[in-house]
Amino acid sequence: MAMACWKASLFLPTFLLVLVLVLLLQYPSGSEARPKQLEPLKHDSGPLLNGTVKLGILWYGRFSNSQKIAVRDFLSSLHAQGRVPRPSVATWWRHIEAYRGAIPGSRLKGKKIPRILVKVVSQKTDGGYSVGKILTHAYFPTLAGKVTGGDDSIVAVIIAARDVSVEGTCLGQCSVHGVLETGRGLFMALGNPETECPGDCGWPFFPSTIGPQIGLPLIPPNRGGIGADAIVMSLAGALAHSVTNPYGNGFSSPFGRETKEAVSICNKVFGTGAMEGYPGKVLVARGRGHYNANGVGGKKFLLPAIWNPIKQKCWTLV
Ligand SMILES: *[C@@H]1O[C@H](CO)[C@@H](O)[C@H](O)[C@H]1NC(C)=O
Repeated sequence: MAMACWKASLFLPTFLLVLVLVLLLQYPSGSEARPKQLEPLKHDSGPLLNGTVKLGILWYGRFSNSQKIAVRDFLSSLHAQGRVPRPSVATWWRHIEAYRGAIPGSRLKGKKIPRILVKVVSQKTDGGYSVGKILTHAYFPTLAGKVTGGDDSIVAVIIAARDVSVEGTCLGQCSVHGVLETGRGLFMALGNPETECPGDCGWPFFPSTIGPQIGLPLIPPNRGGIGADAIVMSLAGALAHSVTNPYGNGFSSPFGRETKEAVSICNKVFGTGAMEGYPGKVLVARGRGHYNANGVGGKKFLLPAIWNPIKQKCWTLV
């Protein structure tokens, strides 16, 4: 009798302990399990883009002039150090150029980092939506060909208008990039942040759709309104990713089913003190909106944070 009693009193705690152990063991092995903490970016033996990066820009669909001007001014601001007050777009670009020195075993440590010159060599507008309004990967080679003419040394930049959707964007990514299915040429394709996940890809100019929103959305600094500034923000990320991880074996970090790269790993960080729902410190141009980077001709832009691969944290201009 005493024996049976002892067994019964032990049964429940043992059962609970086994249950807890089973739950603990199962939880992290689930396929949906995500790492709680982001893993730092790692370099995976592949080359980065360097020297002169030639771009062919395809404006796919209809855009306003001010949107095109904002993109043009952003790109020419990348190399405008010296003539432009800080914080500048050129300083932001320096941090992308510096990735080369962070490759393990790089002989550049402590030396001057070579510049990466971004040059727009061709530009076209496909205002007639030649392949329709849903851009799948299968169309990228055709569209890229319109601006590269088959020259593999030109990186095709496909910018989608607000009534066009781009396959692969919106799933934790605002743009896609890589090697074209046919051949060796590189491409990047940008979803339009006004319509594709505005709360993610157009934030902080659009209200956040998931998670908290602290304060009002920011006011875009350029004349083209949200459209222009959100495209610049998205292009900045796509360009950073293409340079630091052009072939998928540069700098990246797995994050569940996604891959994080130089800018996407610092998701929604724009200034010091950023946290969920708050972009961090930004500057205000009187009557002209919020920004964190000066460019050529007095232009202002809001640029995303960049992962610093040496200090292993996100870096912001302000
Ligand atoms: C620079 O580009 C060349 C040509 O694409 C490539 O072979 C080389 O590995 C690149 N350098 C770095 C540091 O990635």
